[in-house]
Amino acid sequence: MRLRWWAISCATLLIDVALCQDACSKPDATTTISNAGQLSTLLSSCKIFDGSIAIAASDARDLRLVDLDNLEEITGDLVVANNTQLERLASQTLVKIGGDLRLNECPQMDELKMPKLTRVGRMLWSSLPNLQDYEFDAGIDSVSRVDISNTQLQALTGLNIKAADEIFITNNPYMLNISILLNNVGKSLVIKDNGPLNVEFPNLLWANNMTLSEIASISMPRLNYVNDSFRTSHSAFFAFDVPSLSVIKGTLALNDVWNVTTVNLPGLLSAGGLEIRNNTDLTVVSFGQLATVTGNVNISGHFSNISTYALQSVTGDFHLATSNSSFDCEDFDYLKSIESIKGVYQCEGRHPDPSLFDPTTPTDERLKPALSTGAKAGIGVGAAVAAAAIIGGGLLYLLRRKKRVAEMDGTGDKALEYQALGELDSKKQEPLELGHGKEAQELAAEHGVSEASPTQPVRSVAGTHELP
Ligand SMILES: *[C@@H]1O[C@H](CO)[C@@H](O)[C@H](O)[C@H]1NC(C)=O
Ligand SMILES: *[C@@H]1O[C@H](CO)[C@@H](O)[C@H](O)[C@H]1NC(C)=O
Ligand SMILES: *[C@@H]1O[C@H](CO)[C@@H](O)[C@H](O)[C@H]1NC(C)=O
Ligand SMILES: *[C@@H]1O[C@H](CO)[C@@H](O)[C@H](O)[C@H]1NC(C)=O
Ligand SMILES: *[C@@H]1O[C@H](CO)[C@@H](O)[C@H](O)[C@H]1NC(C)=O
Ligand SMILES: *[C@@H]1O[C@H](CO)[C@@H](O)[C@H](O)[C@H]1NC(C)=O
Ligand SMILES: *[C@@H]1O[C@H](CO)[C@@H](O)[C@H](O)[C@H]1NC(C)=O
Ligand SMILES: *[C@@H]1O[C@H](CO)[C@@H](O)[C@H](O)[C@H]1NC(C)=O
Ligand SMILES: *[C@@H]1O[C@H](CO)[C@@H](O)[C@H](O)[C@H]1NC(C)=O
Repeated sequence: MRLRWWAISCATLLIDVALCQDACSKPDATTTISNAGQLSTLLSSCKIFDGSIAIAASDARDLRLVDLDNLEEITGDLVVANNTQLERLASQTLVKIGGDLRLNECPQMDELKMPKLTRVGRMLWSSLPNLQDYEFDAGIDSVSRVDISNTQLQALTGLNIKAADEIFITNNPYMLNISILLNNVGKSLVIKDNGPLNVEFPNLLWANNMTLSEIASISMPRLNYVNDSFRTSHSAFFAFDVPSLSVIKGTLALNDVWNVTTVNLPGLLSAGGLEIRNNTDLTVVSFGQLATVTGNVNISGHFSNISTYALQSVTGDFHLATSNSSFDCEDFDYLKSIESIKGVYQCEGRHPDPSLFDPTTPTDERLKPALSTGAKAGIGVGAAVAAAAIIGGGLLYLLRRKKRVAEMDGTGDKALEYQALGELDSKKQEPLELGHGKEAQELAAEHGVSEASPTQPVRSVAGTHELP
C-alpha cells in the first residue's frame, strides 16, 4: 500500500523512487521543516510519513501558516516547539499521528484545525497563549494522554475526544471553562490549578480515577461508574451535579469545598470509601440508595442531616463528627450494634438510645456488641436461619425507626434527654445493655446483612441499577 503510493507520487514528480522513499521514511529521526520549500517537497512526496516531523521557525518567515494537506499519517510525532512564528497548523487530510502532537511555546499560534484526525498517541500542549481556535471535527477516537498545562487558554470547550487514558489539565490560570465530549477515561483525569474552572463532561460514562480541584462547577450528567477514586477538593461551587453516579469502587472524597450546602447523589449504590471533610457550608448529605461502603467512612463538618437510609454495610471504620449537637447518630448506632459497621465506630452527635453505650470501653470499642450464649449457640445454623435473621433484622430496624419517630414526635422531654446524653463526654456513658430483640439483632449481625453485603448486591429496593 505504502510502496504503491510512493511509486505513484514519485513517478508523478519524476523523482528517483529510492530518494523519494527516503524522503518519506526517517523512522528513527525527526525531520525538521524549516522553510516552505521543504514543506512542499514533503507534502508532494508523502502521504504516509514514517518518522517524526518538527516545524521550526523559518528564516524567510514563510512558515507562519502551515497546512499539512496531502499527508494522511505520521507514524511518529508532530512537533512545534519554541516557534515564535507559527500562526496556523492545519491539515485537511491527516487522519493519524502515531506519536505525540506536541505543541510547546508557540506564542503566535491561534489556529489548529485537523478535521479528519481520529488517532493520536498523546496530545501534549503547553505555553500556547493565543490558541483559541481548534477543530477536530471527526473526533479523536482514542488518545493515550492529553496534557494541557501552562497555557493561557481561557476555555477548552467542545474539544472532541471520545476516549482517553489520561487527561491532565493543570496550571492554566486563565482557563475558566472546559467541556470535553469524552465518553470514558481509562486511567486518570486530573484537573487542578486552573482558573476557577467550570468543568463539563456531557458524555462521560465512566472514569477510572478522578482528581479535581479549583473547580467552579461540575457537570457530569451521565457519569455512572468510577473504577477507582473520585476526589474533589479546594473548590467553591454550589452544586455537585453528578446525578447518575451509581458505583465508586474507590473513595468518594469531597474536601475543602466552599459554598455547596447539599450533596445529593440519588443513584449511588456503593462506594469503596467516603471522605467528606472541611466543607465550610455543607450541612446536608443525601445518599438515598447507598447500600455498601467497602472501606472507611470519614465525615466531619457542620452537618445537620446525613441521609443514608439504605446503608447496610460498612466494611471499614466509621468516623462521623459534626459541630451540630442535635445531629442524630441513631441510625449509625444501630448499624454498629448489628455489626453492619465492621470497623472502629465513632459518631459524635446525639445518641438517642442509651442502651447502645458502654462507658467502660473506649470510644472506638464502644459499640462492639458482645455475643450472648444464646447468640453463640445460634452461630453455625443454616442459611435458612440466616435468611430469617436478615428479614428479622430488617423488620426490627423498621420498627425501631417507627418507634423513634413516634418518640420524637411525642415527647420533647425525651429529645432533651437524648441531647444531654449526646453532649456527655464519650468516656462517661452509661453501661451497655442491649435492649429488646437481643437475639434477633445478634443473629442478624453474625449471619445476616453484614456478611451478605460485601459480596452481593444488597439493594432491597427493586433497582434499575445493578452492581457489577
Ligand atoms: C525552548 O527553548 C528554551 C530556551 O529558549 C529551551 O530551554 C527549551 O528546552 C526549548 N524547548 C524545546 C521543546 O525545544
Ligand atoms: C464560560 O461559560 C460561561 C457560561 O457557562 C460563560 O458565561 C462564560 O462567558 C464562559 N467563559 C469563557 C472564557 O468562555
Ligand atoms: C488516582 O489519582 C491520584 C491523584 O492523581 C493518585 O494519587 C492516585 O495514585 C491515583 N490512583 C490510581 C489507582 O491510579
Ligand atoms: C471501568 O468500569 C467500566 C464500567 O463498568 C468498564 O467498562 C471499564 O472497563 C472499567 N475500566 C477499567 C480501567 O477498569
Ligand atoms: C462562596 O464561598 C466564598 C469563599 O470562597 C465566599 O467568599 C462567598 O461569600 C460564598 N458565596 C456564597 C453565596 O455563599
Ligand atoms: C479547612 O479549610 C480552610 C479554608 O479552606 C483551610 O484554611 C483549613 O486549613 C482547612 N482545614 C483542614 C484541616 O484541612
Ligand atoms: C479521618 O479524617 C481525619 C481528619 O479529619 C484524620 O485525622 C483521620 O486519620 C481520618 N481517618 C480515616 C480512617 O481516614
Ligand atoms: C442542627 O441540625 C438541625 C437538624 O437536625 C437543624 O434544624 C439546625 O438548624 C442545625 N443547627 C445548625 C447550627 O446548623
Ligand atoms: C433528613 O433528610 C431527609 C431527606 O432529605 C428527610 O426526610 C429527613 O426528614 C431529614 N431529617 C432531619 C432530622 O432533618
